[in-house]
Amino acid sequence: MNIVSISGSPSQRSRSGWLLQLAQTRLESVTRHSSLVAVRDLPPAALLACDTSQADIAEAIRQVRDADLVLVSTPIYKAAYSGLLKVFLDLLPADGLRGKTVLPLATGGSIGHLLALDYALKPVLSALGARDILDGVFATDAQLVSHVSGGYVPDDELVSRIDRALAPLAESRALRPAAIARERSGEALRSA
Ligand SMILES: Cc1cc2nc3c(=O)[nH]c(=O)nc-3n(C[C@H](O)[C@H](O)[C@H](O)COP(=O)(O)O)c2cc1C
Repeated sequence: MNIVSISGSPSQRSRSGWLLQLAQTRLESVTRHSSLVAVRDLPPAALLACDTSQADIAEAIRQVRDADLVLVSTPIYKAAYSGLLKVFLDLLPADGLRGKTVLPLATGGSIGHLLALDYALKPVLSALGARDILDGVFATDAQLVSHVSGGYVPDDELVSRIDRALAPLAESRALRPAAIARERSGEALRSA
C-alpha cells in the first residue's frame, strides 16, 4: 500500500506530527511505500500563491495523487484544523482524494474540541472526493506526555484507538500475503 502522511502543524516539535508518525508505524505490515508531506517545510511564498508548478509543491501533490492511503494530521487551532493544512489541501485537485482511504488525526489542548475532526476536517476531505474515511483519532496534549528524548509517550488507550481506526485496513485486499498471514496469527497491527 502506498501511504502519504500530511502534517499540518507549523511547529517543528509537534504532537500532531508525532501522532502521525505513531499511526504510520502501526501500519508497517501494510506499507509498500511511505512518504511525508510536512506542509511547514514547503516554500511559504509559493504555498500562499497557490503555485502548484513550484517543484516541492508539485512533488507533494504527486505524492498524494499516488497514495492509496492518506494520513492527515493537524493541531486544533481555534476549534478547527490549522490554516497551514488548509493552504495545502486547497492546492489539491478538486477530486484529489477520490478513491483513497483517509485517516484524520488531530491533537488539541482540550477535549472540548474533539468534534472538530467531524465538523471541520471531514467535510473538507469529503469535498475532495474521499468516501472511505476511517474513524478519526483525536488526542489531548495530556495523552501525549513529553519525553526528554524530544518525543512523546502515548497512553495505552490512545494506541488502542489508533489500532481500532486502522483495523479495516487489515481486512482490505491491499494487504500483502505476508501481512495477511501475520494478521491471521494475531500479530498484525500489534507488532509496532
Ligand atoms: C494558535 C493556537 C490555537 C489553539 N487553539 C486550540 C483550540 O481551539 N482548541 C484546542 O483544544 N487546542 C488549541 N490549541 C492547542 C493545540 O491544538 C495543541 O497544543 C496541539 O497539540 C498542538 O499540536 P502541534 O504540537 O502538532 O502543533 C491551540 C494552540 C495554538 C498555538
